[in-house]
Amino acid sequence: MTNTTHFYEKFVPEHYDLLIDVNREHKQISGISTITGDAKDKRVYVHQKYMTIASVKADGADVPYTFNDKDEAITIDLPQTGKTTLAIAYKAPLTDTMMGIYPSYYELDGEKKQLIGTQFETTAARQAFPSIDEPEAKATFDLALKFDEHDGETVIANMPENHVKDGVHYFDTTVKMSTYLVAFAFGDMQSKMTTTKSGVKVGVFSTKAHAPKELDFALDIAKRSIEFYEKFYETPYPLPHSWQLALPDFSAGAMENWGLVTYREAYLTLDPDNTSLEMKKLVATVIAHELAHQWFGDLVTMKWWDDLWLNESFANMMEYVAIDAIEPDWHIWEMFQTSEAPSALHRDATDGVQSVHVQVEDPAEIDALFDSAIVYAKGSRMLVMVRALLGDDDFRAGLKAYFEAHKYNNAKGDDLWSALGAASHLDVGAIMHSWLEQPGYPVVSASVDNGKLKISQQQFFIGEGKEVGRQWQIPLASNYSAAPQIFKDKEFVLGDYKQMRAASGEPFRLNVGNNSHFIVKYDETLLADILKDADKLDNISQLQLLQDLGLLAQGGQASYAELVKLLPRFADSKSGVVNAALYSAFGSLRKFTTPDSAEELQMKKFAAMLSGSQLERLGWMPKAGESSDDQQTRQDVMGAAIYSGSQEAVQSAHEIFGRFEGRLNELPADIRPYILLSEVRNFGNADLIKELLAQYRTTSDASYKGHLRTAITATEDPEQIKLIVKLFEDADTVKPQDLRAWYRGVLTNKVGQQYAWDWIKSQWQWLSDTVGGDMEFPTYIQVTANAFHTPERLAEFKAFFEPKLDTPGLGREIKMDTSVVAAKVDLIAAEKDVVNATVAEVLD
Ligand code: BES
Ligand code: ZN
Repeated sequence: MTNTTHFYEKFVPEHYDLLIDVNREHKQISGISTITGDAKDKRVYVHQKYMTIASVKADGADVPYTFNDKDEAITIDLPQTGKTTLAIAYKAPLTDTMMGIYPSYYELDGEKKQLIGTQFETTAARQAFPSIDEPEAKATFDLALKFDEHDGETVIANMPENHVKDGVHYFDTTVKMSTYLVAFAFGDMQSKMTTTKSGVKVGVFSTKAHAPKELDFALDIAKRSIEFYEKFYETPYPLPHSWQLALPDFSAGAMENWGLVTYREAYLTLDPDNTSLEMKKLVATVIAHELAHQWFGDLVTMKWWDDLWLNESFANMMEYVAIDAIEPDWHIWEMFQTSEAPSALHRDATDGVQSVHVQVEDPAEIDALFDSAIVYAKGSRMLVMVRALLGDDDFRAGLKAYFEAHKYNNAKGDDLWSALGAASHLDVGAIMHSWLEQPGYPVVSASVDNGKLKISQQQFFIGEGKEVGRQWQIPLASNYSAAPQIFKDKEFVLGDYKQMRAASGEPFRLNVGNNSHFIVKYDETLLADILKDADKLDNISQLQLLQDLGLLAQGGQASYAELVKLLPRFADSKSGVVNAALYSAFGSLRKFTTPDSAEELQMKKFAAMLSGSQLERLGWMPKAGESSDDQQTRQDVMGAAIYSGSQEAVQSAHEIFGRFEGRLNELPADIRPYILLSEVRNFGNADLIKELLAQYRTTSDASYKGHLRTAITATEDPEQIKLIVKLFEDADTVKPQDLRAWYRGVLTNKVGQQYAWDWIKSQWQWLSDTVGGDMEFPTYIQVTANAFHTPERLAEFKAFFEPKLDTPGLGREIKMDTSVVAAKVDLIAAEKDVVNATVAEVLD
């Protein structure tokens, strides 16, 4: 059979009775999936993967069937079409792949334990129960769950438990929903509960390895997010409860199962008394993301996986809308500008990148196409752009109509555009198609030519790029009224520059607010006009200046000299985002120096110069009651000071470390990674690494774990590095879900790089066997490319990865990443001297 037939066309399910029996000890699942629905054909297909089918009955009688793993299907021949009840008895393995029904491993008081959970998106429900495993095949579900149960274990699912009989847990019937959102979990858990104003029970669940207070933050954010969404969407949360569960092993970041959202521990539990504001913001946005899906994704679901981007882009935008509403002091949109915007602008500038919307039939392909910088970051920018264009009122009115029309049902991207179009009287579809169906984005050049102010658009590339004449419908967001609202043409003349400048009294600007997905290249006259009073611009505009100039420099369209000279002008900014942009730009300069060279020494001095007076103002230790801008700025300047290696910085960090010796977890989380890293780098020895590793293995605090990893992987002692690389394959220390971060840590360490690179080359098969089925797999290539920028590494990169170009799911990544490294090699050859000369000049 061809994979373009959707099983749903042949059998439309209405209701499932699932009996699932999980045996942890024998790592076996057995069950009966009873599906009532409408057979449109006498030959119907039901999804299954890795199962043994014991029997198939239709309306109580055995019917002929075949099954295989290649098609992931059971082919069933029915005596007639029409309303039919299929009963399929099966067995399946309980595997450690973090997909389907799977165990998570953890330790409690030295005892090894497991928690069983599920992960079905995109197509792993078919590993748990035979089903029409397509998003359009919505049905209701009755779950009956049995397992080798011990006293005191907790069991949870999408719906509340109804009763227990003969060791079987029966749950209430679900609303109509897609298979990929079914979920359950059981094991030795703790929980905390509350209730929303509208009566929805909210709970947070985790293993007992966490202190109970680690559940509090998530509970509060979850409750307030649901309350926010009920108002924002003007649609009540339709289920009796919303459980949030932290799983010790988790392949994605989090998953929006309806009524039972699952998370990586790092994205749910945290120590409320010692976690950085940055991490709290991250956890809050993850929770808000998954809860946004309870409506957009769960209530209204994409018809097919090609529109998965719509689900994800939308939730990715709503994270910020929700958190901005419930924690306005956090200025969370600033985080959008320092994380999503640069990630999208950077990735989308490489030729060969995919478009946001890609036609796919085979769901395995969509997993391979799941480029988060595009699907999440660019996609959410697209929606932010639409929201800015429509205004919040029309945007919400359109959304409400969309929910009304499609709830408990499915929709396509175009259904959303028409709902938003109807609410706003704009041709939203036409505008969005130009952004979603084409890869890349434009640079808009603005110049004064013979006294006339004009603009033009062209695709922006970093590295080699083939100009194929793409054009976009660009919401310009200019401060000059002569600029069109939407710029569709190749070129446009606004009019007489002097007159407009005089009339407006301000420098000419485009993309004010940085909500549209393009960058601006101002000519000399226009840029000088803006820079004159750059210090008076708002924070986002300052960040945007640095970001756009940095991108233009990477694309060879501006000189790094300009960027280097600009940095000191912002060095005393009190804004967290401006400093984030500044130090990110500074970070991009470091590759222009070779390790241990005179130039590197000079770059370090530059770091000291930029960070010096800020560090004096802020001090090393966080202060009670200081602003979030100050907290964030301290992290950036401390990072720079430690990079500078100045005696003063090294000693300050060492002194703080000494004060917390024996209780390192109590180091204030804001500064902890920097203090630990500096200690390892400047005073580290085998004992210290051993101590930090021991802490890593035993702490339940995921953010502390992250800081320990940062410090451990920074060691420059080859013997210690060898030992660390050995741990990559020891799941008792480095869980597969955390391996990429460890690999990155060692790879970006100048002494470690060769060891990490040798490891991945020799262990590629092991890596592929361990995380190969995962969407994260191709990102190991990306991480590698991001660390490389020399001609030697480029040659080695090509030699290793080019033979793998035909590996399914890796080809595009390898091509793009080769071009990413090549672009850096060329850039360094072209700009190295200018960068270092300008740094010298600025230091003078
Ligand atoms: N639905 C996704 C997770 C997912 C996507 C699983 C595609 C399988 C296939 C979930 O809502 C999500 O977006 N998770 C993010 C975390 C996040 C808050 C950005 C993730 O896993 O990275
Ligand atoms: Zn999502």
